Amino acid sequence: MKLVKTVAEMQELGRLWRAEGKKVGLVPTMGYLHEGHLTLAKEAVANNDLTVMSVFVNPIQFGANEDLDVYPRDLAGDIAKAESVGVDYVFAPEARDMYPKGFAASINLTGVTETLCGQSRPGHFQGVCVVITKLFNLVQPANAYFGQKDGQQLAVLKKLAKDFNMPVKINGVPIVREADGLAKSSRNVYLDEECRRQALVLSQSLAVAKRLYDGGERDAEVIKAAVRAHIETAPLADIEYIEIVDALTMQPVARPEQQVMLALAVRFKTTRLIDNILLGEEV
Ligand code: PAF
Repeated sequence: MKLVKTVAEMQELGRLWRAEGKKVGLVPTMGYLHEGHLTLAKEAVANNDLTVMSVFVNPIQFGANEDLDVYPRDLAGDIAKAESVGVDYVFAPEARDMYPKGFAASINLTGVTETLCGQSRPGHFQGVCVVITKLFNLVQPANAYFGQKDGQQLAVLKKLAKDFNMPVKINGVPIVREADGLAKSSRNVYLDEECRRQALVLSQSLAVAKRLYDGGERDAEVIKAAVRAHIETAPLADIEYIEIVDALTMQPVARPEQQVMLALAVRFKTTRLIDNILLGEEV
């Protein structure tokens, strides 16, 4: 496994691989790897000639009052974990190399970025679109892998690749959960014992929604109300949103007919958690 530290070196490698006709898989991450990231990496390793994992805490996707400064970091641990699943290259650039003085680009996708997390995290998806575009241009992957856990991010990046005719397939990989159901996230380390215990209502509430949906319920308000009632059994849960949206456009749906995503964001003290479930068949 090789560590690539500079944008220039990454660009040169990407150019070489393209010239050699190599099929490259890219797994973009912000590091502090857990089982969810490693599942993405394994998928990439199994389906490409070589795999690059980027480890970069992207400053421009964090809002002013968010956790950029305290976001957990462990590059040495990440390198060891990436190597253990067969990743060939870890790309870990410095922020000043990715965004030199005078950097001015921004990318705004309308619609798909405007609901759910886009409302409470203004500028977040613009920052994600910029960093992913840069990574695609540097690495030139045939495939890129993202977790379904960040379901809106996945929809945004599919739209980004489609609208800009980017020659890369965006692969979504199912959510990886702890044994008790909590979706794996680098931010779970922020939860104290009581919050960690109460956070189980999230995955449980998604199971409530699935039971209703599978039983034939199609009124989004009824499903959302049942999810809310379950989450409210946890006294520390502070609900930001519970929404049922079209799985591709992220626009609210009143009566699900094709595949929808039930998405939620809930705060436990200072920790904001998101989770989701897909309901219905992919179209
Ligand atoms: O999901 C993440 O970790 C980040 O948003 C991503 C896709 C690596 C972009 O910085």
